[in-house]
Amino acid sequence: MALNAKEKLFFCAHCGEEEPRWMGFCHACGIQEPLEEKLVRSGRQVGWLKNEKTEPVELSSVSPQSMPRIATSDNELNRVLGGGLVPGSVVLLAGDPGIGKSTLLLQIAASLASGIAQDENRRVLYVSGEESPGQVWMRAQRLSMKGKGIYLLGETSLHAILDTLDAMQINAVIIDSIQTIYSEELSAVPGSLSQIRECARQMLTWGKTHNVPILLAGHVTKEGEIAGPRVLEHMVDVVLHLEGDGMGAFRVLRGVKNRFGSTDEVAVYQMEENGLRIVDDPSRALLAHRRTTPIGSVVVPVIQGTRTLLVEVQALTSPSYGPIPRRVANGLDLSRVLMIAAVLDRRVGLRLSGQDIIVNVGGGIRLDEPAADLGIALAIASSVRGVPVKETLVAIGEIGLSGEVRPIPQFKRRLQEAERLGFELAVLRGDHNTLSNRSMQVYEIDSVAEALEHSFLGQNRINNRTKEKRISVTGGQFDG
Ligand code: TYD
Ligand code: MG
Repeated sequence: MALNAKEKLFFCAHCGEEEPRWMGFCHACGIQEPLEEKLVRSGRQVGWLKNEKTEPVELSSVSPQSMPRIATSDNELNRVLGGGLVPGSVVLLAGDPGIGKSTLLLQIAASLASGIAQDENRRVLYVSGEESPGQVWMRAQRLSMKGKGIYLLGETSLHAILDTLDAMQINAVIIDSIQTIYSEELSAVPGSLSQIRECARQMLTWGKTHNVPILLAGHVTKEGEIAGPRVLEHMVDVVLHLEGDGMGAFRVLRGVKNRFGSTDEVAVYQMEENGLRIVDDPSRALLAHRRTTPIGSVVVPVIQGTRTLLVEVQALTSPSYGPIPRRVANGLDLSRVLMIAAVLDRRVGLRLSGQDIIVNVGGGIRLDEPAADLGIALAIASSVRGVPVKETLVAIGEIGLSGEVRPIPQFKRRLQEAERLGFELAVLRGDHNTLSNRSMQVYEIDSVAEALEHSFLGQNRINNRTKEKRISVTGGQFDG
């Protein structure tokens, strides 16, 4: 595409500082990297936002209508977004290659184009820099989509895309992926940090100026960061991660950043022959393959936004053949595993020093809640001892460095979910004097050592320190 260059500028790829002439370093942020070249086209605004004057509004006069949402027909997605897409917002959908980003985006395009009400037909532009319109058509066939209202553009030039957008009446834009789009104004290669940043910035400006939502697909690098070291995360309004469980079919969509809602909501999908399908009962689906209770496996009820999920934690320990034992954590922070292993070693006397430890979380869920600590500890202990935990047992509790177990919030919701799926036993920190009635057996414990005395198959001993209670999780007066 012809470019009527007006001005040549040099900028720092690190902080964005612009200079009229080239320099070998940036004097704004001090980074010792040469400035990159960029041509500024006449006509198009390059700044963050159009220089439009806005008037202040009194807080009391702001109504929810002033932040309308475009609801998609996917209620799970709407929940993760905080109620739907906000016009003019930029959403980054990040994930590993092959995880299902293009599939999800095409499904979103279809649900946006069809609208919720029949008369609410919308036009969506799907820009594919990775696949030809023919390939997208084939995917649409697989998803049994008619494709009405979805316009395909096989283009990678940012300015060609912006020109198309300017010429079209459009309600939403999808860019698949941001790494394939490039601006002629920059000398850097497509996919480079400065190209990604500049393209996202110009798309963002266009979206905000025209009040149109933009969804960007972004690949994650091996290190688990959105390629272009997280630059995009700071610029966009919403960051969603699409994650999977290795070879399994589950896909978890998680909010990582959301300027318009909370970030702890997750949606669980299953990749099927004809696209991503919402999993209606994620707890049941996540535990479906778990018939008996294997060694090293413990179920923990975790709260993810408005959802309670039962998640399986698996641990495997084996004698280490290296000088330093290895610790691996998939689906949770390695530092948590290290802390829990240290507590088990020092406070409980479980010999872990010569053991490699691997901890996995099932179904692509991330265990960020401290409430999962006790379950992780029991899973490791079960593997070391070679004894499974009791069938139908769930564990809830945060572990402290002295080996104490701390009470956690919202335990009633967790127990209700556990009971719904047929779990009969719970090991938790007892701090709940109002527990009454009888329907689920609860071991109230104060320490990890105590939890280990009651959780394993074959242990029926109740000592007088531990109160065993049957409680009703459906009708009790307590709240967690
Ligand atoms: P894709 O959406 O292309 O992933 P990404 O854009 O994140 O790279 O999905 C890739 C995988 O999903 C591919 O291995 C095929 C599989 N798939 C299905 O199983 N069912 C389907 O209906 C579709 C469209 C894809
Ligand atoms: Mg793709």
